Formats: sequence, structure tokens, C-alpha cells
Amino acid sequence: MEILHVSAECYPYAKVGGLADVVGTLPKYQQELGNIAKVVVPMHRTKFLYENEWTVEHKGSINMGDRYLDYTIIKEKTNKLDFDLYCVDIYGLLDRENVYSYDDDTERFTAFQISVVDWLSHWEHRPDVVHIHDHHTGLIPFMMRHCFAYKHLSEIPTVLTIHNAQYQGWMSWDNSNYIPDWDTWQWGLLDWDNMINPLACAVKCADRVTTVSPSYMEELTTDANGLEELFVSEKLKCSGILNGIDTKVWDPASDTYILDNFSAEDAAAGKLLNKKKLCKDFNLDVKKPLFVFIGRLVADKAADLLPRAIYDSLNQLGNKMNFLVLGSGNTNIENQLEGLIGNFTGFYNAKIGYNEKLSHQMYAGADFILMPSRVEPCGLNQMYALRYGTIPIVRSTGGLKDTVVDFGEEKGFGIRFNNAAVWDITYSIHRAVELYDDKEKMTEIRNQIMKIDNSWEKSAEKYIALYKATQLI
Ligand code: ADP
Ligand code: GLC
Repeated sequence: MEILHVSAECYPYAKVGGLADVVGTLPKYQQELGNIAKVVVPMHRTKFLYENEWTVEHKGSINMGDRYLDYTIIKEKTNKLDFDLYCVDIYGLLDRENVYSYDDDTERFTAFQISVVDWLSHWEHRPDVVHIHDHHTGLIPFMMRHCFAYKHLSEIPTVLTIHNAQYQGWMSWDNSNYIPDWDTWQWGLLDWDNMINPLACAVKCADRVTTVSPSYMEELTTDANGLEELFVSEKLKCSGILNGIDTKVWDPASDTYILDNFSAEDAAAGKLLNKKKLCKDFNLDVKKPLFVFIGRLVADKAADLLPRAIYDSLNQLGNKMNFLVLGSGNTNIENQLEGLIGNFTGFYNAKIGYNEKLSHQMYAGADFILMPSRVEPCGLNQMYALRYGTIPIVRSTGGLKDTVVDFGEEKGFGIRFNNAAVWDITYSIHRAVELYDDKEKMTEIRNQIMKIDNSWEKSAEKYIALYKATQLI
């Protein structure tokens, strides 16, 4: 099969979070299964762009409202990612350093989507499926069916994967003229609560809808930032397929970012060396358990609860542990986390910002990783942590529920709690400190978790089966 993935992010070209990891890995595994997978993203001005060679694949022009825009599609020359990577450039809109958070994101991503559909309409052949990811690509199935210029694409099946339904790409109806000449009888497909809602539109128009874990799919029917009813009514075409991880990139035995490589057999010594380095770099106490948090500092991740949970834990247990936080996001949370450093010198530190290398070192050197998320459609951190012998402490939600079993249960290995509340996080930290003192149990769990198979093979096959089902529609 030939699959065209459309996304805002793709690792290592451009990454903000797990979406990039998934879009940078799933196509690789799909290719290994004998398919042709291609990825197209906006031409963000990233390091990867400047460090690699590209060829121009196509040039075209589109209208967006009263703007006439030229676009260029370039392709990475050397097959660096093991699949074809294409980027869309539009002068003044897509030529930016960051992926998101510009005032004109609506215009940027609408222009990106129109360009992709326009490019596709010039292909001499048809792909078997167009696989879109999240709301930034959500108007594509609608445009392929209901824009007069692109109706000849309407037979190509489309699949939407929702990585996070909290963000929906809401647009005012005043911007409806951005979408190229479309069949206005179909306005209801664009609308949700008097706004153009690209995510809702994609749920309505795509042939199949997936989310990145089965539990999150279930949760969406009762908690989907206003789209609950839609998920109930579209239930039959929706399913949850758990993400995997790229076990080649995330392998403690060969990871070039970490100080000492290790595998399950020599994990105790290997992790200790990595922990020593982290503790030295961040002035922490290597003899005490090391808890880390890595991620976007936003309410969905319950990062707002971290400062208090860390403060209470260190006070209540008398500095019996260390914390190291890596993340960026909400400025208030960033300031609070930085502000705490002075209170607990030697036991707590925080690095505000995005740092891929440090994140690997933290997965390798930590004893526990904290994920108190309020919303976690899948979560990749816990799977990376498991592979690096670090025990996840997670709230029971979404993909965290599907990948972590509490060590109190049969065959369990992690720590789970139910409430996104400071007291439940600190209680779990207490449990972890007790577990850390039981060296035998720690070793047993570490051996067990490093062998868990969370690779993409199984899930990549599930996507192929799903695409095949769309060919029968
Ligand atoms: P989300 O996509 O919601 O942010 P995931 O758990 O799916 O959450 O994926 C997060 C990914 O981003 C992981 O690869 C994680 O290591 C990485 N990450 C998040 N924040 C940072 C950061 N500040 N520095 C380095 N890597 C980060
Ligand atoms: C989103 C979700 C996260 C998921 C990732 C990759 O960013 O918040 O839970 O792991 O996408 O699917």
C-alpha cells in the first residue's frame, strides 16, 4: 500500500512532543512491512532542514481567501529517515523557526493543508490512503470531498489519528472563505458549536478515526473538550491503537546521548553510572532515589501540581529523595519550578527548555519518572522510561492506564494513582521511596520492565489492517 502521512511534526525534522516521535517512526515500520509510506510536513526552519540535502519536487499556487500563495514542495534527498520526507514551503507563512504558537497559525495551517491537497491533485497516481494527524490537518478529508477543484480526490480513503483532542483548531466562520470554493450545502460538516472545528470536521469526514490508545478512545465519549456527543455518534468508525516506540532510537544499549550504555543484564551498574553523571551535573545526591519529570509544562500534564508535590514530599520525608525536572511551557509553572531550586539545594533541580540529549540522560539515570497527567492520550515517556529501567509513576488515565500496571498487582511493575491531586502524587512518591529501599524488588522490577516489548511492530500491522478496511468502503 502507499500511505501519505500529513502532520505538523516529524522527528527528527521538527519535534514539539510525542506526535513527532510517532510520525517519525510509524512510517518506518510500515515500510518494513512492505508498504510505501511518505510524510509531508510544513517546511519549519529547523536544524535538520539546514543540515540535509533537498530536491524540489513540485511548485504550485493556491488561493486562500483573497490571498494568492505560491508553494513549493521539497523532498529529502538521501532517505535519511528510511521513508520519503516532503516539506511544504510558503513564503511568509511556513518559513518559521517554531512549529506552533504564532498568531497566524490558522492561516499557516490552512495554507499548508490546501497546498498538500493541491499537490496531491497533481500526482499522476493516487496513494491508497491519506493518513492525517491531529487538527492541523483536519480539513483535508473535507477538502478532498467538497472543494470543487479537488473532488476528483474524493475516492481516496482518509484516516484520522487523534493524538490529543484537547486542541481542535477552532476557526471563526468569518474565515470560511479560506477554504477553496466548497459546496456550501456541506457547511454542517465544518461546524461545531458555531465555529469551524477542524478536528470535529475530520472526525465526521474521515473514513476511519483512531486515537493513540484504547482507553483514551473510551474516555473521549465522556470527556473530549466538547466533542463527546460526536464521538458517541461516530463510535463505529473509531478505534484505539496503542502507540509504540522506536526501539532503535530509544535503546540504552546503543544510545549515543548517554554516558554509559547498558542492557537488562548490567542495568544496575549502567544506570548507576548515568545517575552519577546526572547528580554531578545537577548537584543532587546519588545515594537517594532520583525522581524525574520530562515534558511540556502545561495543565494537561498536571505540571502545575509539581512544585507543591515536590515541596511537600521533600518536607514530609526530610529530603529522602531527589527531583530533577526538564520542561518548558506555562511561564508561571516555569517560574515556580525555578524558584524552588533555592529551597532545596542538593536535592532538587530544574532545567527549563527543550533538550533532547538531556531527556535521554534522564531516562537512563533516573530511578522513577513522574507522569501525573490529567489528560494523556498515550504518553511515550513511560514507555521510554521502561526501556531504560526507570519505574513510571502515573495517573490512571488514557494510554498510561494501558501501559503501566501497579506493582501491587499481579505481574505489576509501576506505580499508579487515580487523582490529579498533590496528595495522591506525594502518596505515590512515598510508596516509591519504600520500594527503592527494597533492593531485591527494585532489581526484579528493573529486569522485568526492560524486557517489555512496546515496539511498533504490532501496532503498525493494526494500521495496515485498518487501511485495508477502508479500501472496502
Ligand atoms: P506529548 O506529546 O503530549 O508532549 P508524549 O509523552 O507523547 O507527550 O511525548 C513527549 C515527547 O517529548 C517525549 O519524546 C519526551 O521525551 C519529549 N519531551 C517533552 N518535553 C521535552 C523537553 N523539555 N526536552 C526534551 N524532550 C522533551
Ligand atoms: C499527544 C499526546 C500524547 C501522545 C502523543 C503521541 O501529544 O498528548 O499522550 O503520546 O500525542 O501520540
